[in-house]
Amino acid sequence: MKNVILTGDRPTGRLHIGHYVGSLRKRVEMQNNCDYDGMFIMIADTQALTDNYDDPEKIRGNITEVALDYLSVGIDPSKATIFIQSLVPELTELTFYYMNLVTVSRLHRNPTVKAEIQMRKFDNSIPAGFLCYPVSQTADITAFKASWVPVGEDQLPMLEQSREIVRKFNDIYGNILVEPKAILPDSQVCKRLPGIDGNAKMSKSLGNCIYLSDDSDSIKRKVMSMFTDPLHIKIDDPGHLGGNTVFSYLDAFCKNEHFSCFLPEYSNLDELKEHYIKGGLSDVKVKRFLNEILQSELKPIREKRLELEKNLPYMYEILKKGSENAQRVASLTLAEVKKAMKINYFS
Ligand code: TRP
Repeated sequence: MKNVILTGDRPTGRLHIGHYVGSLRKRVEMQNNCDYDGMFIMIADTQALTDNYDDPEKIRGNITEVALDYLSVGIDPSKATIFIQSLVPELTELTFYYMNLVTVSRLHRNPTVKAEIQMRKFDNSIPAGFLCYPVSQTADITAFKASWVPVGEDQLPMLEQSREIVRKFNDIYGNILVEPKAILPDSQVCKRLPGIDGNAKMSKSLGNCIYLSDDSDSIKRKVMSMFTDPLHIKIDDPGHLGGNTVFSYLDAFCKNEHFSCFLPEYSNLDELKEHYIKGGLSDVKVKRFLNEILQSELKPIREKRLELEKNLPYMYEILKKGSENAQRVASLTLAEVKKAMKINYFS
């Protein structure tokens, strides 16, 4: 069996550091260090439209933002195929065939979909396309016969549903599709980086994100305003790490070499934590340290983005070529699927 990796993001906003530690960083690492037969990274505009159908400008504009974010973190179009979902109509066709393999009640029970329906207050007016997006996601994955899907934890129910659809398809029509597995972020904190306000989720609508494209001043301002330990009032008070956003970010970003560069009085994060818990270490000092780390991590990404922004036609060419390549691969799977379903009439 081939080793194919596929993942995607909805183009509903610029990507932030939660996306970075949750998935983008891993993709770049896999791209550079793993043995694989194909890597596909999809900008999921069709899926984004299922709950943004009334705001097409938003989706269109964010295709560019997400593509710039991909390239600036180091996704290399010579190693990974970056493509736009709607430019591969085979995915829509597969979705329609797969819709027979799942019941409406099963779609309603999908925990991710359920949570999203609640969050969007759809009540009894759920767009049919939205309810079916797990089916479309199954098409995205199976069209490329992807065996590995690097995603955040919230996507696990999606993959479970995809596997069910694949098994049902293979049972009925013959063994054609590949059952995908998730690749999750390495650590708990990377699975869900909190927002700068301490909210469990970093999200655009909550206004608590640090974006990959933020300038240096915004990063500093956001870090210095971050939620810490409300009981740590005087420097000498003992500090707490639970729910302390600054330390969560350090867990996600800090490496030992950051200490020799920016805070040589300590040699590792454990020592810093120990001092904080004991008391006598100020939040400002820890925030300044985190700021240095984030600045050093995000500066090359931002600079690359500024370069890319000067040559948008180059980026559009990458998306165009990538989408053509993706379509070529997806059409092979679609032909197999149609043959298996006995709807390959004249071939
Ligand atoms: N649902 C994913 C998100 O919200 C995006 C996505 C669409 C995706 N198709 C996919 C992720 C296929 C992995 C595989 O970010």
